[in-house]
Amino acid sequence: MNQKMYKIAVIPGDGTGPEVVAEGLKVLDAVSRKFAFRYETKIFDFSGRRYRETGKIVEDSDIEKLRQYSAIFLGAVGDPEVKPGILEKGVLLKIRFSLDQYINLRPVKLYNAKFCPLKNKGPKDIDFVVVRENTEGLYKGMGEFKDKDTKDEVAIQISYNTHRGVERCIRYAFEYCRRRNKKKKVTLCGKTNVLTYAWDLWERVFYAVAREYPDIQTDYAHVDATCMWMVKNPEWFDVIVTDNMFGDIITDLGAMIQGGMGIAAGGNINPEGVSMFEPIGGSAPKYTGKNVINPLAAICALGMLLENIGEHKAAQAVEDAVIKVVQKKLKSLSAGKMGYSTQEVGDLVVSFL
Ligand code: IPM
Ligand code: MN
Repeated sequence: MNQKMYKIAVIPGDGTGPEVVAEGLKVLDAVSRKFAFRYETKIFDFSGRRYRETGKIVEDSDIEKLRQYSAIFLGAVGDPEVKPGILEKGVLLKIRFSLDQYINLRPVKLYNAKFCPLKNKGPKDIDFVVVRENTEGLYKGMGEFKDKDTKDEVAIQISYNTHRGVERCIRYAFEYCRRRNKKKKVTLCGKTNVLTYAWDLWERVFYAVAREYPDIQTDYAHVDATCMWMVKNPEWFDVIVTDNMFGDIITDLGAMIQGGMGIAAGGNINPEGVSMFEPIGGSAPKYTGKNVINPLAAICALGMLLENIGEHKAAQAVEDAVIKVVQKKLKSLSAGKMGYSTQEVGDLVVSFL
């Protein structure tokens, strides 16, 4: 018996979050038996409902508690009855920033050509990873209003990029690319032709770091062109590194070409600290409580969590089981069209483990 005891903080969150988290935990239970590791979970209720009832979101004391965990498993953030921005900033961004989860790692991997909206593209063409900077850029929240609520109003939103922040992100991308050992190519996705401060820094740091990785090929694409290539020639990509805002945008496009939000997972990673894993699809209020949402994104996030805590075989087993479910069972990856309920899809993954 593996002597390690993992402590997993679980944040079911809003909407369909609790339903997909339940399936993730079902898979965790099964895989822990198979690979003989021990874990304990603790539920943290950072939901819209709790906010509406108590006015509380994530507090500094909660962050201190989260620091004690091996990893965090998050369902979804977003409640239609709470003004947009409050939970996003107060839960998701608060945790990302406070725990310095400076990488947002988003694999874009197609498991079944049938679920790809692109003509003539299959699993061998769509297999790359986006490394999104996760603590700076436009998300830093810097800016101001001048002459608010007058016709002279100016709203300023600053993209804040530090050499240290950019370098650690780019270095992570190169290291990840080397470990991944596929096409061995890192593409910088930016906008050097217009955003001439931020992307000047990114470009300088990118090529400086690249010199330390002679085994890895470099490439550059503007963000608009990146969107074009992701649709036209996704097979060109291996690892894409980009800033917070561009990474947010291109990973929704990435989710679509890998089969949709039902399968897209991501990790908010602090390589030296506590990381958080989540399906990237959101809380899907209209499907809440109906047992129709696809839990595979959450299960893939759980797989990424296992990889992160060092249970590599368990992580691989989860991915292999998900691949079987996607290749052999599901009619669609979209909510309500899978041919199975949320819970049945969780059971299918367990059955293939
Ligand atoms: C994501 C989401 C978040 C982001 C929102 C909910 C704050 O869109 O994880 O991609 O913009 O980062
Ligand atoms: Mn997003």
